[in-house]
Amino acid sequence: MKLLVTGGAGYIGSVTVEALLSEGHEVTVYDNLENGYREAVVQDAGIVVGDLSDADLLRKSLGGMDAVIHFAAHSKVPESVTMPAKYFRNNLVNSIVLLNAMREEEVPKIVFSSTAAVYGVPSACPIMEDSPTEPINPYGESKLFFEGILEDYHRAYGIGFVSVRYFNAAGATDRLGEDHRPETHLIPIILKAALSGSAEVKIYGTDYNTPDGTCVRDYIHVSDLAAAHILALEPGCQGIFNLGNGTGYSVRQVIDAAREITGMDIKTVESSRRPGDPPILVASSERISRALGWKPRYPELGTIIETAWNWMRAHPEGYGK
Ligand code: UFG
Repeated sequence: MKLLVTGGAGYIGSVTVEALLSEGHEVTVYDNLENGYREAVVQDAGIVVGDLSDADLLRKSLGGMDAVIHFAAHSKVPESVTMPAKYFRNNLVNSIVLLNAMREEEVPKIVFSSTAAVYGVPSACPIMEDSPTEPINPYGESKLFFEGILEDYHRAYGIGFVSVRYFNAAGATDRLGEDHRPETHLIPIILKAALSGSAEVKIYGTDYNTPDGTCVRDYIHVSDLAAAHILALEPGCQGIFNLGNGTGYSVRQVIDAAREITGMDIKTVESSRRPGDPPILVASSERISRALGWKPRYPELGTIIETAWNWMRAHPEGYGK
């Protein structure tokens, strides 16, 4: 297929582009390189450096495309709490610009990066797709609003959509890994501390109602996420799907696993809660397994951390920008 991948120079986008190319798809990346890296775009992909707010450039880039995979977004939960305008402008308003450009260019389908943050503080785990959606931060709200718009555009204009609600993406391929600036995600922060030998990892909140008092998350390998996007392109695939491993690990458990894998004594310091953090997020991915035959290849937390560690040791400066 001929695909436009917005945010294809970012973490999950670049890994998905690599996987799409290896399966013979023709890929153009559309990215403003604000958070992405040219070095993360695999050579065989085309690249358009542009912003999602640029309707003319989007329309030009969309001509003849079979589908869009839409990763481009701001995605830092704590930042969304202090800068909601930034999140609604980019994740919502600019995503509508994209959708309207798709409509004009008659691109029939979009696969959208959504998030577990749409569920807020779930009343039960594992979370099903029809669990109540009550986001507790603007990031989750921006993604949920856009899912509603996708439903409306599908009903009114026939644009097909698949929305994939990720839990916690982590890990790396041989070539591509995670490099956010500043880094806010737990696993790369822990591994950077291991690499430095001296930095302390802050544990945000030790008084949650969880087995060890720290937040519990469902970590999923970035290549397993990429594989799900490729399955979502199948004709007739439509709707909302969770994507996680179905097992939760606390912050302390992740740190312990990283100590084991790196062989380093990672120092920690207990800190206050981070705004916008739900205590537990664990997915049921039964729907995508049943509908599309998706199955994680790297379900073990140890493997996920190990791939991230290998990439970080090979790229101690990240992409070096
Ligand atoms: N954490 C720490 N110390 C740190 C960094 C994180 O204790 O230095 C904790 C957080 O407070 C949280 C957990 O580790 O409890 C995971 O935090 P991340 O920042 O790695 O991930 P989040 O769960 O906040 O968010 C991620 C994605 C979001 C997505 C969400 C869905 O970044 O885009 O998962 O679960 F919405």
